[in-house]
Amino acid sequence: MVLAHTPVLLAECLKALAPQAGGLYLDATVGFGGHSRALLEVAETTVIALDQDPLALQLSLENLAQFGSRVQGVRVNFADFEPTALLGEQFGGFQGILADLGVSSLQLDRAERGFSWRESGPLDMRMGTGETTAADLVNFASEVELARIFHEYGEERFSRRIARSLVETRARTPFTTTTELADHVARVIGYRQKIHPATRVFQGLRIAVNDELGALDRFLTKATQWLAVGGVLAVISFHSLEDRRVKWSFRRDPDLEILTPKPLTPSLEEQRHNPRSRSAKLRYARRIVRNPHDRSA
Ligand SMILES: C[S@@+](CC[C@H](N)C(=O)[O-])C[C@H]1O[C@@H](n2cnc3c(N)ncnc32)[C@H](O)[C@@H]1O
Repeated sequence: MVLAHTPVLLAECLKALAPQAGGLYLDATVGFGGHSRALLEVAETTVIALDQDPLALQLSLENLAQFGSRVQGVRVNFADFEPTALLGEQFGGFQGILADLGVSSLQLDRAERGFSWRESGPLDMRMGTGETTAADLVNFASEVELARIFHEYGEERFSRRIARSLVETRARTPFTTTTELADHVARVIGYRQKIHPATRVFQGLRIAVNDELGALDRFLTKATQWLAVGGVLAVISFHSLEDRRVKWSFRRDPDLEILTPKPLTPSLEEQRHNPRSRSAKLRYARRIVRNPHDRSA
């Protein structure tokens, strides 16, 4: 299998972060290392690369090995990262932080990770090392909880109908694979749109399994405190639940100057070349007051 992930909105991210020689950057979601590579290539920067997925971190560090000690990887949920624990008390803030949210192609394309309805795999969907899998939710969460997950996180119109049917069926036969679940959802609601009928159910489960919105909220609150004055926080989101959080977190923060009144989206050419970029939105903002770590003149 060819392992690849095309970085989304790359030119726009580089424009936003404007990497400078000697600058310290945080790639909070290194994934396959595409954005980090660009940050390291355009100037003599140092990049701290986080990922909660051990395999993604290992592969990205292998991909970026040529940059030696200019890259440092940490396997951690970005919501739990503490820069001073890694960099010591001399840490003075990042010149730029990037979070490219969601799953990577690397995760989606591996059937055994259970993120995709396209191929049969175990109902897992964990990005990190959490304990709860999608199978746990599908087979043990209450009908009300499942309906909430599909409605709130998947924005699925038929959430209650799907939840009721799953609960009835699992009493006879528990769901173990991605295709069992996807086929079941398709039978319950039929093919009504261009997307596969189980797409929203899968999105809802993935967000719940990884507590993606909770982690994003915690990260957004902390990350602005990690920026040096003038440093930029850039976030690429892939659905409205994330984008809304980024928008409001930027608006509420008096320490930030918003540099994208409207989010940037991929050009038609990028969308054609990389269909997974279609729903991407980039927002960024600059820290305009000093943070407690900042020792710059
Ligand atoms: C879209 S991919 C990033 C791709 C990367 N920018 C590139 O160009 O190769 C998102 C990555 O973020 C990781 N991730 C998602 N949520 C995370 C979190 N809360 N903490 C740390 N890593 C996270 C995923 O495991 C995945 O590898």
